[in-house]
Amino acid sequence: MSQILDINDRRSRAKGLAVAAEALAAGELVGIPTETVYGLAADATNGVAVARIFAAKGRPRFNPLIVHVVSLSDAEEIAVFSADARRLAEAFWPGPLTFVLPKRETSSIAELVTAGLDTIAIRVPDHPVALDLIKALGRPIAAPSANRSGHVSPTMAAHVAADLGDAVACILDGGPCRVGLESTIVGLFGGDAVLLRPGGIKREAIEAVLGRRLATADDIEAVRAPGMLASHYAPKSDVRLNIVEVRAGESLLAFGADLPKNANKAVATINLSRSGSLIEAAANLFSALRALDVTAATIAVMPIPETGIGEAINDRLRRAAAPRR
Ligand code: TXA
Ligand code: MG
Repeated sequence: MSQILDINDRRSRAKGLAVAAEALAAGELVGIPTETVYGLAADATNGVAVARIFAAKGRPRFNPLIVHVVSLSDAEEIAVFSADARRLAEAFWPGPLTFVLPKRETSSIAELVTAGLDTIAIRVPDHPVALDLIKALGRPIAAPSANRSGHVSPTMAAHVAADLGDAVACILDGGPCRVGLESTIVGLFGGDAVLLRPGGIKREAIEAVLGRRLATADDIEAVRAPGMLASHYAPKSDVRLNIVEVRAGESLLAFGADLPKNANKAVATINLSRSGSLIEAAANLFSALRALDVTAATIAVMPIPETGIGEAINDRLRRAAAPRR
C-alpha cells in the first residue's frame, strides 16, 4: 500500500513534490491532484512509464492520454496550434479545457501516449501542485483520471488510494478537486471545431470565444473510429498474427526469447520485449509497427499472451491486421 503525502505546509509540500518528481523521473506512477479530477501521472516521454498507466488502470485498449504542460508555449512545442486553438488557450488556460490537435513530428512524447494517432490531447491544469510537479520533473506529464477502468473518476486522494494504491509510488493530497469532473475536450484538426467531451468548461463559453458553434460528437470513439482509427493504427504492410514460422520476405515483430522458425530469414526484426515483459512490449508496440512498416509486404507477429496489458496489445494488433478499406 502506498502513502498519501500531505502537502499542507511549506516543508511537507516541498518534500512531497521532490518525492513525486523523483518517482516520475524513475518511470514510476504518481497520483496527482488537478482542478478537475485526480490524475494517474507518468513522465510523458517515457514509453515504459506510460505503459504502466494502461496496465494499472486495467484498460482493455490503449485509449490515448492527455498530456499536461505548464504553459501555452510548452504546449506549442508538442502540438500544432491553429489561431482558434491559441485564442481558446489564452482564454481558458490554465483550466479544464483540453485540445486535440495535430501532433508535432519533433515532439518527444512517447508514441503510446497518443496510441499511434497523429493528433494529441493537451492541457494546462489549473492546480498549483500539478504545475509545480511538471516543473520539478522538467518534462510533460501524461495523466488519465486515476481510477481503474470502468470506475468513476477520483476527486479525493483517498479515492486514488482505494483504486490504484498498489500501482502508484505515492499520491499527492491536494484536497478535494475544485471542479470534480473531467476537462472539456475540443478537437481542432482538419478545420473543424468539435466538442469531443463535455466537461469543466461549458460549451457556450467556448463558442463565445470561438465566435461560432462547436460541432458535437456524441462519443469520442465514434469520431475517431471511422477514419482515424483505421488509417492511423494500421501500417501499410499487411500484418499476420500469431505466427509460428516466418515466411520468405516477411519482417518479424517478435516477443520474448524463443524466436519462431526461420526467424533468421526475416527481412527486419524488432523484439517488443526480449525478456517477455508485457509492459515493455506495450511501450514499444506503436514505434515498432512504424519502424517495421514498409520494410516488407507483410509483418509477421509472434503470439502475445492475452493476460494483463496483453489484452490491449492484442486489441491493437488485431486492428492492425484487420482487412483495409
Ligand atoms: O480532466 C481531465 O481531463 C483529467 C485530468 C487528470 O486532467 N484527465 C482525463 O483523462 O480525463 P482520461 O484519459 O480519463 O480521458 C482522456 C480522453 C479519453 O476519452 C481519450 O479518448 C481522449 O481524451 N483523447 C485523448 N487523446 C485523444 C486524441 N488524440 N484524439 C481523440 N481523443 C483523445
Ligand atoms: Mg477517465
